[in-house]
Amino acid sequence: MTSQVDLPVSRIRVLVTDNLAQKGVDLVRQTPGFEAVVQNKLSPEALKDLCRDADALIVRSASRVTADLLAAAPRLKVVGRAGVGVDNVDVEAATARGVVVMNTPGGNTISAAEHTLSMLMSLAKHIPQATASMKSGKWEKGKFLSVELSGKILGIIGLGRIGSEVARRARGFNMRVLAYDPFISAEAAQALGVELVDLPELYPQADFITLHTPLTPETRNLIAAPTIAQMKDGVRIVNCARGGIVNEADLHAALVSGKVAGAALDVFAQEPTTDSPLFALPNFISTPHLGAASEEAQEAVALEVAQQVIDYLQKGIIRNAINAPSVPLEVLRTLQPYLTLGQKLGRLASQLSEGRLKEIHLGYQGEIASLDCVPLTVATVKGVLDPIHDSVNMVNAMAITKGRGIRVIESKSTEATDFASLVTVTLQTDKGKTETAGTLFSRQDPRVVDIDGFRLEAVLDGYLLIFSNLDVPGVIGRMGTLLGQNNVNIAGMQLGREKRGGRAVSILNVDDPIPAPVLDEIRRMPNIVYAKLVRV
Ligand code: NAD
Ligand code: MLT
Repeated sequence: MTSQVDLPVSRIRVLVTDNLAQKGVDLVRQTPGFEAVVQNKLSPEALKDLCRDADALIVRSASRVTADLLAAAPRLKVVGRAGVGVDNVDVEAATARGVVVMNTPGGNTISAAEHTLSMLMSLAKHIPQATASMKSGKWEKGKFLSVELSGKILGIIGLGRIGSEVARRARGFNMRVLAYDPFISAEAAQALGVELVDLPELYPQADFITLHTPLTPETRNLIAAPTIAQMKDGVRIVNCARGGIVNEADLHAALVSGKVAGAALDVFAQEPTTDSPLFALPNFISTPHLGAASEEAQEAVALEVAQQVIDYLQKGIIRNAINAPSVPLEVLRTLQPYLTLGQKLGRLASQLSEGRLKEIHLGYQGEIASLDCVPLTVATVKGVLDPIHDSVNMVNAMAITKGRGIRVIESKSTEATDFASLVTVTLQTDKGKTETAGTLFSRQDPRVVDIDGFRLEAVLDGYLLIFSNLDVPGVIGRMGTLLGQNNVNIAGMQLGREKRGGRAVSILNVDDPIPAPVLDEIRRMPNIVYAKLVRV
């Protein structure tokens, strides 16, 4: 999706923290007009200070992007997270300020899946404990009896990118794989050779359980005393997703009692963790959040995030955004002229309407209805808000309507109209209803074709004088004379009327803004019902 990015006249400054792989920094530096400021291990205050004149911020997991930091960064337009989890970014505060938050979802999937398998194997074969024993000068061949993965049941909670790759690899080890993920279809699971089940079915059957969900209110403390009690005796648990999904105190108790035979954590509720009762247990192994710490993954996420940030600031293209709809480039090419149409129609309707906005109804008819209209809705809502809100953009438009209690309703019909595609914007306020409809001519040029039921056809660009009058001789002539006397050039004119002698609505495309006193004079002219100057 694209949105208007106000490029600063000076160079675009990208602040890079958290030891981003050098290739990402190089990419920013090699891009004309961009500069990268690289500072690692910053205190929160130092980070905030550096953000004051940054246009973009690229972080990994160490830097915390708080509401306070965002408030002190007036130029900031995008936060790029080299990695998946955005728990170190206040996404809500960023959204409210119109700052795009992007992550790089695919770059570290394989590394995280391989790390998970390494943890599973290490748990089954006691590799870390046996290594420590040998390094302490012992040869304890009888102590480390292992189990095989083959023929065992693996329970995967969260069958997304990493969960799916873990499933593929586990199938390679001849494991039977059960998975729980409320957002994955049975067909998708079946294609992976995985049986989709509910948690009450998964817990008592699984020999190994591995977690691959985000940390959400639903998944926080998902693995705790009550759920561990439902598991098979001697289960082994792996968490390479997020700290907090496993309750560490309850896990400790279950490892001590032997209910859980072994556990492997890559992630902890508190990071870094250098001291935990778990470290004293022989059946517990851990790594310091290394799931994505491979050469390949770090390079991939660094390049991905740098390119995404550059694309957004250079061309307005949003990819992998957490808080704005992302659109693949090829879809964007088709949708872009409609986004312009929607935004302009929204601005037009907004400036024509009177009163407190309560509802925005968007109608999509014809060919457009068969496309993904979410970005079009966002663009149109942005257009509606443009004249009434200072800093609305594609990121915060929907959040602003929600915050103000404005309903946004979308309806679609693929049935043909007089136009290949028709977009209708209806605004309901406490004073009444305003409707505008528009289409694209030659698939490019936005035109308004209807205002409050009056059929007309005007170019949607620049300044438009829109007036309603009684359809009697002399009105248009007087209007032309008055504008001419005041040096306002008329670029086009369209008229729609109910019936001869009834009401008419006219649109004059004018090259220049009309001065307020002239507009007042127009409103005082005989037979004029209303007159408004709008800019789209
Ligand atoms: P993903 O979005 O592709 O997959 C997450 C899956 O979890 C989705 O399919 C979703 O439907 C599912 N899910 C959400 N809520 C659920 C619930 N309540 N119960 C069951 N399933 C639920 O994400 P991913 O790229 O596979 O990453 C998974 C996790 O791994 C994330 O938490 C991510 O931050 C973490 N991660 C950790 C490392 C690491 O270094 N240890 C590296 C990469 C990713
Ligand atoms: C992620 O969310 O991508 C991983 O946890 C890796 C990281 O923290 O960088």
